[in-house]
Amino acid sequence: MNSKNFAAVKGMNDLLPPSIESWQFIEKAAREIFGNYGYQEIRTPILEDTALFVRSVGEGTDIVGKEMYTFTDRGDRSLTLRPEGTAPAARAYIENNITNKEPVTRWFYMGPMFRYERMKTGRYRQFYQIGAEAYGALDPAQDVETIALVDVFLKRIGVPDVMLRLNSLGEQSTRPAYLQALRDYFAPQAASLSPEAAATLERNPMRLLDSKEPALQPLIAGAPAIVDFIDEASKAHFAEVQRLLTKLGIAFVLDRTLVRGLDYYSRTTFEFVYQPATGENALGTAGTVCGGGRYDGLVKDLGGPEKPAVGFAMGLDRLVLLVEAAGARKPSRPTLFIGTFDGPMRDEAFVLVTKLRNAGYAVDFDPRGGKMKRQIERAIKVGARFFGAYGDAEHTSGKLGLKNLDLPDATDNKVEVAVDALPTWLRETAASG
Ligand code: HAM
Repeated sequence: MNSKNFAAVKGMNDLLPPSIESWQFIEKAAREIFGNYGYQEIRTPILEDTALFVRSVGEGTDIVGKEMYTFTDRGDRSLTLRPEGTAPAARAYIENNITNKEPVTRWFYMGPMFRYERMKTGRYRQFYQIGAEAYGALDPAQDVETIALVDVFLKRIGVPDVMLRLNSLGEQSTRPAYLQALRDYFAPQAASLSPEAAATLERNPMRLLDSKEPALQPLIAGAPAIVDFIDEASKAHFAEVQRLLTKLGIAFVLDRTLVRGLDYYSRTTFEFVYQPATGENALGTAGTVCGGGRYDGLVKDLGGPEKPAVGFAMGLDRLVLLVEAAGARKPSRPTLFIGTFDGPMRDEAFVLVTKLRNAGYAVDFDPRGGKMKRQIERAIKVGARFFGAYGDAEHTSGKLGLKNLDLPDATDNKVEVAVDALPTWLRETAASG
């Protein structure tokens, strides 16, 4: 028979121990902190009608134009692996008629997203987002609440050196004047643009500002800024967002070029970007750990009621890289590893291990048994803090001699604990670790 070595699909990663603990740590912190802010979890399908993303994210965007995993199913429907979570959440919000159930809704989600992008550190084809969406409030306090949530969350999980960048895109109704200004600005250069950039200019000139083409960068830097085109109400809203951020003690910088790569935004847009002052940047150029903003028109555009909304999504893969680079997290370890002897005492040791585990303690053993020296090596390998053998002598005396594996042999590294007292000892030892 032919054998074939299979590999994961390019750009899609296996998440394995020990790194998976960093993922779980971040996800757990998100559930706690988002809960404190009044956000409830939702889970939507991985697949959606392709038209949902075309309609919301926008036809002229990179995501819709060249990054979606789209296929026709057996029933001849065009389906797409979700490239982001805002459109699916809005679809669920409308379809489940949430608007009639409560005036303000706050949701969060976490899960895989798919974009056929060029890969590098922090940029993958299956990646994970933790996102939040708040529907129903037009007030600047709602924008600032979502930003405050990201701010405290990043601090809590120990991500340093993150800068909040802020901009306003104004109402969608002021967009045509701005797009015209962009066309007028880029038109004299049309001949020198790449065919791709020229097509973008034609289709959706604002998306030209997201272009990563090196040759375009000086031109982009001099382009008209959208904040100079926004309406008075949006200006007032933006000023209020800034005032409230300052009131909450959240630092930010204004970034006139921050237009975001998705079409549904109106008014506030923001990103949290990792920018270490010194040393290596663990994310390279993929430094944006969070992107978001207000999108007051989307729910209506997708067939729902008039509902203002604001939200964000953080890249979980990137947060994991930063949490691990910060080195703050210690891997979890068994508190105790019990060595076993061949013969009837193996059963007794297995019973003891199971009892302690079931009582809530991290206790390990080697189901293969074998030489005690090998079992101690195994205990060290899995990171156990203490090792104790359980055989005839221990069974008779009701006491276990435990060796602290963190201390060298020459030191006083042994303790004796009564078998009955093990749960108390394990509780105290785990708490002190
Ligand atoms: P986005 O800026 O496309 O926004 O993505 C948000 C975050 O997801 C990025 O800042 C980045 O951290 C992460 N991310 C995006 N693409 C990749 C990738 N290929 N590999 C790894 N991480 C990635 C949105 O998706 C909007 N739905 C955010 C939003 C929610 N706006 C309002 N509500």
